[in-house]
Amino acid sequence: MKPRILVVDDEVRMQRIFEINLTPKYEVLTCGDGEEALGMVKARDITLMITDLKMPRMNGMTLLKEVRRIQPELPVIITTAYGTVEGAVQAMKEGAVDYILKPIKMDEMELLIEKTLSLCRLKDENRDLRQELKTIYGPKNIVGNHPAMQKVIQLIQQVAGTKATVLIQGESGTGKELVARAIHYESDRSSKPFVVINCAAIPSSLLESELFGHEKGAFTGAVKTKKGRLELADKGTLFLDEIGEMPKELQVKILRILEEQKFQRVGGTEDIEVDNRIIAASNKDLKQAMEADAFREDLYYRLNVITIPIPPLREKKEDIPLLVEHFFKKHRGVCKKKIAGVSERALQLLMDYPWPGNVRELENALLRGMVLCRSDFIEVEDFPEELIHQVKEEGMVVAGDREKLKQMKKITQQKIKEEMEKKFIVEALRKGEGNIQRSAAMVDMDRRQFQNLIKKYGISRKDFEKI
Ligand SMILES: Nc1ncnc2c1ncn2[C@@H]1O[C@H](COP(=O)(O)OP(=O)(O)OP(=O)(O)O)[C@@H](O)[C@H]1O
Ligand SMILES: [Mg+2]
Repeated sequence: MKPRILVVDDEVRMQRIFEINLTPKYEVLTCGDGEEALGMVKARDITLMITDLKMPRMNGMTLLKEVRRIQPELPVIITTAYGTVEGAVQAMKEGAVDYILKPIKMDEMELLIEKTLSLCRLKDENRDLRQELKTIYGPKNIVGNHPAMQKVIQLIQQVAGTKATVLIQGESGTGKELVARAIHYESDRSSKPFVVINCAAIPSSLLESELFGHEKGAFTGAVKTKKGRLELADKGTLFLDEIGEMPKELQVKILRILEEQKFQRVGGTEDIEVDNRIIAASNKDLKQAMEADAFREDLYYRLNVITIPIPPLREKKEDIPLLVEHFFKKHRGVCKKKIAGVSERALQLLMDYPWPGNVRELENALLRGMVLCRSDFIEVEDFPEELIHQVKEEGMVVAGDREKLKQMKKITQQKIKEEMEKKFIVEALRKGEGNIQRSAAMVDMDRRQFQNLIKKYGISRKDFEKI
């Protein structure tokens, strides 16, 4: 589809010039005053507007302001005569993308249009990518039916809209980073950066400059001024991973950030202000670390405003079948062949294993299984040796887990049955054109029974009416 350009100018001659020059490439609409233009912006899907400033009835500036209000994303280019440049500058302040002086050179105009349109496309792409990030990292990707996981998801929703500091506690591989990202992408900071710093992975001598940045010449090797991650995360979220590993002298500085949102670069004397949302995570019990004097008490209480505890996988084993399904979908691309699922014996193995590496270990085991699998189903043999070994040796089959697995299966079967039933009723209603008596008769069902099922599944007209 050609971009649709609206040209607003009270001189009919100008409208004609635009039409003649731009028509091959764009769809050109023209009108002679602001009020009419506003109507067109509302009614038609305009890609770009070019407007003169001086016009009868509603002038260009008022038009621009009105357009900003109803369609803030619509790019507007101003055309103006010599002597009214101040007006054009004012218009740029009001959000016009650029201005061009009359008499207009059409080739310049076309360049400006192209530049503006490609900028818009970039912006659109950026927005799409961000939306994608949101779907990749949002809370919907956190799988878990266990009450503790439901609580985690609920907490994410509750804290996302606030600036409260959050502490996420959980063993390695339980999904701490996943939760931190979900908070960020669910918050109104989602269009700003999510910056991670792993306090355990960076030597403590470098940690300070990584966090706060440094001034040129602050230490040997500091040849340039460098921004730290705090500055990179300005207006966004800073994720302090493994905060339990942070040296105590840095802990004081983090406390200052939390209290005053201010810091100094290494070797700097000036206070730098930032607006960060801080999320911290730890796989060790920070309270214990505090009691052992390895973690500052004041920082502990400051971080602990809201704590999200994530249970280890061995304590939420009923989530294993769900996670298996989730990772199957997530990694579908890794193997060419179509895998139907995990065999019953293999699933039993997954239920029995204690998963010291938690969900990450499960994900890796499944990936391996998916790659090595030779039949329709992943078999016990496709999983890592140590997994099979440990389960065999320790005879880890806990009666409770077997019971849970059975129940999970029952629930799944029930769900499938219900889904099919609902589809069946919807289909019947569609064929019977919504008439209950007729639809029931068509599928040989008792009217009462049919009606009960409609109620049970909350089926309404929109479910079966063709759009
Ligand atoms: N509930 C869950 N639903 C879906 N995926 C999950 C879940 N929990 C963890 N994962 C996945 O498991 C992997 C490990 O998660 P993540 O890196 O967030 O864990 P972590 O707690 O930060 O681990 P570590 O302490 O080792 O850094 C990721 O691929 C993540 O997507
Ligand atoms: Mg992590």
